[in-house]
Amino acid sequence: MNVNKSLGEFIKGIPKAELHLHIEGTLEPELMFELAKRNNIKIRQNSIQELRDAYHFNNLQEFLDIYYEGASVLITEQDFYDMTWAYIEKAHSQNVLHAEIFFDPQTHTNRGISFDTVINGIHRTLDDAEAKFGITSKLIPCFLRDVDPKSAMETLNQACAYKNWITAFGLDSAEVGNPPSKFKEVFKSALDKGFLTVAHAGEEGPAEYVWEAINLLKVSRIDHGNHSMDDETLVKHLSKTQIPLTVCPLSNLKLKVVKSLEDHPLKKMMKSGLLVTLNSDDPAYFGGYVNENYLVLAESLALTIEEISQLAKNSFLASFLDENEKEIIIKKIEEYNISFHSK
Ligand code: HPA
Ligand code: ZN
Repeated sequence: MNVNKSLGEFIKGIPKAELHLHIEGTLEPELMFELAKRNNIKIRQNSIQELRDAYHFNNLQEFLDIYYEGASVLITEQDFYDMTWAYIEKAHSQNVLHAEIFFDPQTHTNRGISFDTVINGIHRTLDDAEAKFGITSKLIPCFLRDVDPKSAMETLNQACAYKNWITAFGLDSAEVGNPPSKFKEVFKSALDKGFLTVAHAGEEGPAEYVWEAINLLKVSRIDHGNHSMDDETLVKHLSKTQIPLTVCPLSNLKLKVVKSLEDHPLKKMMKSGLLVTLNSDDPAYFGGYVNENYLVLAESLALTIEEISQLAKNSFLASFLDENEKEIIIKKIEEYNISFHSK
């Protein structure tokens, strides 16, 4: 039996949740050019190939500059619908049964697109995704940490009109120099209004930022969290509390958070008892959706079928689904394991 082929099949078929996915990061060059044409917007690059060739980054900021530029083609509710639908079709093809999706409201409101346009487009897709494919989802608007917290507070207030559609708030964009403490008041207000919280921390920033996200922002999950591994006390705390980390291998590689996938700390995280999940972050920019992230890491770190299965289970355990829903899907994964092994 071809081990890689069977590993690929196992990964493809196993039910998964995706918990770290920026919807603006799913905008593939083909659709970007189509939307640019539709909206009469000029893209700097002259072709899809030229655009793809520009996707080489030395750090998070170099990526963010291109990513925000790419988002400028999104104007109408239908544009947000089309972008989100393209992701849903991809997710369905990869057996993603549940997605907790980030979007960056300020990236759009700062250029005159209303919060309502953005959320209505995305939410309409998610309704259709459930009706057509049975894919369930949660929405997580993120505050831009390199922008004034006053703007985050305004965003929170706008979002309150859509309380039923929003599960949690997140924190993303340029990390170093923008610690979680900068957003303590905004997050307190979100928590007081009954929302959950998550935050990108320890991607480029130090372990101290992960502590701040936990202690000051009261997060339910840490997004990335790679630099947690630099602090033994923090690793013990994450293991004890089971605060999940949403890890994104191809993103880590493309943004030079790790030197190579062989150096990726995922296995060490698992051995330390952390609740880790695998995700694609910005798949249109980093060269792979969730299954590719599983596959490249499985190959680079020689993950076993049992470890892959645990990661898939973790993706649901770390989700914002209720305990009942989690139990049902964990059983499905166990049945999948048995049926795969008896093939
Ligand atoms: N880190 C911070 N901000 C982001 C990312 C990321 O990986 N992707 C999109 N916005
Ligand atoms: Zn991210």
